Amino acid sequence: MKYSKYSTVIIGSGIAGLYAALKTNQQVNLPEGLLLITKSVLGESNSRYAQGGMVAVLKENKSDSTLSHITDTIKAGAGLSELNTVKFISENSDSVVKDLLKFGVEFDRDENNNLTFTLEAAHSAKRILHSGGDATGKMIEKALCKSVREHKNIDIYEKTAAVDILVNSKNECKGVIVFNEETQSYETIYSPVIILATGGVGQLYKYTTNPKGATGDGIAIAYRAGAVMRDMEFVQFHPTALAIDGDENRFLISEAVRGEGAKLVNADGIEFMAKYHEKKELAPRDIVTRANFNEMAENHVDNVYLNATAIDKNKLMKRFPNISKKCLEHGIDISKDFIPVAPAAHYFMGGIKTNLRGETSIKGLFAIGETASTGLHGGNRLASNSLLECVVCAYSVANYLKSLELKTPKQIDENIKSEIDYYEDDSSVLEEIDVQDFKKKLQEIMWEDVGILRDEKSLLTAIEKISELKKEFPRDKKCLSCEEYEFLNMLTVSMLIAKSALERKESRGAHYRLDYLKPDEKGIHSLVTKKEGEFSFVK
Ligand code: FAD
Ligand code: SIN
Repeated sequence: MKYSKYSTVIIGSGIAGLYAALKTNQQVNLPEGLLLITKSVLGESNSRYAQGGMVAVLKENKSDSTLSHITDTIKAGAGLSELNTVKFISENSDSVVKDLLKFGVEFDRDENNNLTFTLEAAHSAKRILHSGGDATGKMIEKALCKSVREHKNIDIYEKTAAVDILVNSKNECKGVIVFNEETQSYETIYSPVIILATGGVGQLYKYTTNPKGATGDGIAIAYRAGAVMRDMEFVQFHPTALAIDGDENRFLISEAVRGEGAKLVNADGIEFMAKYHEKKELAPRDIVTRANFNEMAENHVDNVYLNATAIDKNKLMKRFPNISKKCLEHGIDISKDFIPVAPAAHYFMGGIKTNLRGETSIKGLFAIGETASTGLHGGNRLASNSLLECVVCAYSVANYLKSLELKTPKQIDENIKSEIDYYEDDSSVLEEIDVQDFKKKLQEIMWEDVGILRDEKSLLTAIEKISELKKEFPRDKKCLSCEEYEFLNMLTVSMLIAKSALERKESRGAHYRLDYLKPDEKGIHSLVTKKEGEFSFVK
């Protein structure tokens, strides 16, 4: 086994991880350097596929205010957003967006070189910045990746998966074990600061907008290590994914298309959103998702349609070049044809519980971005708030690290030693397995029984089926490939979501129980942690 040490290790190279690397490198004293690890290649992540944009409450945008953004976020959050968090993120939006510009991020501008803002569902002002039309994530990431690569003192490990963190008997994180699939080797990396920026969980579901790597690794890793998880039952389903299967996910048709005026219609071209909400296509995301799902079920069809034909063709092509291109590849001209769309798992509101400095319940372990639960999104995320949360929390963690003296551990205790010994021991012989088959079964269970609509019966069925799958999967801890590690993590996170969903006996935001249709009077968070190998709720 190889050993190394760093003053800070960041796991994940989406927008949260990349920006945290740049800010930490810029502001923090790092005597033993900074390491950025990704299981894929630099930048491959959910972030890369973000389309609609990023919320920016800029001082010069006179039609907007932090108060208005805070109000919209809290309203969408269905009683579970934390006011302090929402305020913090909204109020830091102006300075962080301006800092991104300094790192070379470009947002779309009008002919007078002013930033252009768009509208998305449940926002009461035009406050969403976009880039490359509908390629916001890719454009932000490109600039941040370039900057990270230019900083020679940021070390980068690609194709390297974090498998477990090292926590001592005092509940302090002292490092991480990583696995390199190409060399089939493990490495122990000691560090006083480990930042998980490992993204979401969309791949747990049969239909998702998330790319292959969104398997909830950071959440499973933190859970195994004893960290507290929050609101695990809250999975956001996007109403309009292109209803044509891709290799591993479904292509997103951005909410911004509805923001520009597109309408949801059935196969006869009849609009239906007025039946469900006064804001019609711009109602909160969970409502539009359930409306589409309901229309599909009532008419026994696999999709509804988005009609963008009333939007000026030039505007459509300029504003949504990638969506137009992708649809055309499938023979759909969005200026003339209806776009077949259906809901798909999109975003995870739950995750590793953190405070505003990104601290988890384990000392030295931080979490930022989609893997964290900061309290911003509550039960239902407002469109385009995620990218903002990624950058504000990345900035915030770096700001906090400034105040610490980052020393790598001098000694390790028995807990850590036995964990390292376990991965170092190569005496066990593992046989090859077909992970794809296991993955498909799990994704089907999650979609059918822990999906957009749930009830006690479906959740108990899911829990039983996931337990069976866990017994059948011939790996307990050590694996042969990154994909096997991902699947183990998917099993853990799926079980956490199903059990948390069973425990929450109400409907709220994206968590919709057919057997408890109404929200309870008072919204409470669900907290879950692993105690002596058992799943337990913390009140
Ligand atoms: P990610 O960008 O997912 O990055 C996670 C990183 O962690 C990846 O580099 C991954 O390889 C790495 N990783 C994971 N596990 C491991 C491991 N075990 N070891 C090492 N590395 C690991 N939000 C908005 O605000 N606006 C939008 O317009 C928008 N559009 C979206 C469109 C799509 C299609 C999707 C899928 C999401 C969209 N979202 C949008 C949500 C938003 O993109 C994500 O929530 C956000 O980008 C998450 O960023 P992140 O840095 O936390 O994680
Ligand atoms: C979209 O463009 O519809 C996605 C926006 C988001 O998920 O925030």
